[in-house]
Amino acid sequence: MRTLVVGGTGTVGRPLAAELVRRGHEVRVLSRSGGTAGTTGAVGHRGDVAAGTGVDEAVAGVEAVVDCLNVETVRRSRAEAVLVRGTRRLLDAGAAAGVRHHVLLSIVGIDRIPYPYYAAKLHQEEAVTAGPVPSTVLRATPFHEFVATVARRGRVGPFVLVPRLRTAPVAAVEVARALADAVEGGPCGRAPDIGGPREEEFVDLVRVLLRARGDRGVVVPVVWPGRAGRAMRDGAQLPTGGRRGHQSFDEWLAEHHGPGGSGSAGRS
Ligand SMILES: NC(=O)c1ccc[n+]([C@@H]2O[C@H](COP(=O)([O-])OP(=O)(O)OC[C@H]3O[C@@H](n4cnc5c(N)ncnc54)[C@H](OP(=O)(O)O)[C@@H]3O)[C@@H](O)[C@H]2O)c1
Repeated sequence: MRTLVVGGTGTVGRPLAAELVRRGHEVRVLSRSGGTAGTTGAVGHRGDVAAGTGVDEAVAGVEAVVDCLNVETVRRSRAEAVLVRGTRRLLDAGAAAGVRHHVLLSIVGIDRIPYPYYAAKLHQEEAVTAGPVPSTVLRATPFHEFVATVARRGRVGPFVLVPRLRTAPVAAVEVARALADAVEGGPCGRAPDIGGPREEEFVDLVRVLLRARGDRGVVVPVVWPGRAGRAMRDGAQLPTGGRRGHQSFDEWLAEHHGPGGSGSAGRS
């Protein structure tokens, strides 16, 4: 199958492109950089879905599109510009080119947590579901890799501000396998969510990550205000049913940062 991975140089897009190549797909990757992030056998296309450049060329002759686009922002308008308008461009170009399946990666709990980026993701889901190409939406919990992003964003001098959030994080590579299965399963509307094997408190994960890196930053738990904060603390981002990955955060950390960061011995 000829499959386009939009955002195929990203955290989940890269292992997805590799997984699809391994399964025998003819894989294209669309990103602004135009590379393949070292995915042997994938072909890189340069394009910008927000600006509308390079999209028609990337979807030409493709059977399935996997939408792993992302934008790092807390502003809803910026998130909408890339995720919603960009995805609509992909759908319109895909419909014109005869694409038969659009698979979107989304996030568990976005309908239960009133947060600007999540509102844009919800709109993106609606655009895909109501769009002109038969589709599948797969929601995942935060990736293990996202813990480092939260630690970086929350850094204020020696302190690391981390929101109180209960979730079951999952390895991006396991989400990539679920996405590849969704591609091969054909359009199904909403696929079963995927989450990680264990419920975790994000504050603990950041502490374990910093320790594994030898970083002496002091983690400061932050109670996010309002309904969003309550929903985050109350487990709105925990998966209910669906598919569960096998690799725990500790196992993932041991694989990526060595045994110093692994196991419950790393927890306080
Ligand atoms: N991170 C998580 O924990 C998590 C959990 C569940 C679901 N998700 C969802 O999974 C998706 C992927 O997340 P991720 O963390 O893998 O993202 P990421 O690492 O930030 O990668 C984003 C990808 O999108 C490409 N991109 C960004 N803007 C683009 C544009 N205008 N035109 C074309 N390509 C563009 C980037 O390449 P260039 O920069 O070269 O363009 C990159 O390949 C997102 O929709 C996110 O909401 C994420």
